[in-house]
Amino acid sequence: MQTVKSIPRSLWITFLLSAVALVVGFLGYRLELALPATPDINNTYTSLTQPAPTALGSYDVLGHVVSPQEAAQLQQEEAGREQLLPENGAVKVTEELLRLGRRTFYSETFGNEVFQTDVVGALKGPINLVTMTKAIAALGGKPTTNLQVPVDEDFTVGGRTFKEGTMLNTGLDVPARSLLPLGLRPSIAQGKLRVGITCAACHAAVDNRTGRVLEGAPNNDLDSGLILALATNSAAMFRQTSVNPTQVPPGEHTYINADGKSARLPDAKALENAVDAALLTWPPGNFDSSGTLVNNPSQNPPSYTFENYPYGWSGFSSVGWFHGLTTLNNNVHATNSYQSAF
Ligand code: HEC
Repeated sequence: MQTVKSIPRSLWITFLLSAVALVVGFLGYRLELALPATPDINNTYTSLTQPAPTALGSYDVLGHVVSPQEAAQLQQEEAGREQLLPENGAVKVTEELLRLGRRTFYSETFGNEVFQTDVVGALKGPINLVTMTKAIAALGGKPTTNLQVPVDEDFTVGGRTFKEGTMLNTGLDVPARSLLPLGLRPSIAQGKLRVGITCAACHAAVDNRTGRVLEGAPNNDLDSGLILALATNSAAMFRQTSVNPTQVPPGEHTYINADGKSARLPDAKALENAVDAALLTWPPGNFDSSGTLVNNPSQNPPSYTFENYPYGWSGFSSVGWFHGLTTLNNNVHATNSYQSAF
């Protein structure tokens, strides 16, 4: 009896503590206080946090590595100093640069919380901050590679019915003793709570055994399709699916078209349903990052580039700084969904 009694109590305490810590966390993010969005260095497996002694102080000149010793030599002469100027394509590897990279990878949302929260309505449906917090509290500080969120009442999305009590496999990773899933970043601005996504949601994972973060390993079961389908306005993601709004039956709302005539907008419910159904077809660990009106998600790839030079799977390693690392990353800022959705 003793144990039966103490379990709910300890769970309740965990929950209360988590709720308090979460609120402190939200405030902390704004004030840049405790609960760092970037995992504790000791809680990650990484090569970046312990850079090879030779990496620090070296330069990368358009993919050509200049060691600290060579750099010191070059600094002796005017011509050498010129070579190591940023204007000539030289990037110095400093602790600050490495820290900036980690911070951006784990914490930078590029403002996508506005799109995700205000437009898509992510985490406003059955998977929301309350159900998610409860699920994390129930872990009692243990890590998971698949945060399971229980459905608290029957609902239907994209033609599929989810029964009360069903465990939703979000695939979200929660590091040991963390109050938030990896890659989700809450913030409060003008009293409004929003949640944004960082690169770490898909491009980092938790090691099930130790609960530590594997930097650059793909989250291979994150069900972004399910999470987005359960959002309140998934229709905003139509370009990531094959749902063409011009082919959705018209609804009651009208607009003035390019010919100055009154025309009807697609039926909002029908559009939402069609997009939900399309998103539910995405396999866990897959995401469609291109807004091409073609529903073709692809697997979250690993972010490792070390020793790929001079090839890489698409040849990216042959050009650019850091043996193609910057070339690879620019994909993200060019045509991928990050440009619009992030
Ligand atoms: C919702 C999941 C998700 C998030 C968040 C995400 N990515 Fe990706 N990323 C993918 C998928 C899926 C692909 C493969 C599809 C593609 O290349 O278009 C990809 C591809 C990439 C690639 C190309 C890899 C290769 O081998 O070609 C890079 C680099 C990358 N992402 C970096 C980032 C960065 C940097 C961020 C944060 C700004 C980020 N990703 C956020 C899912 C994600």
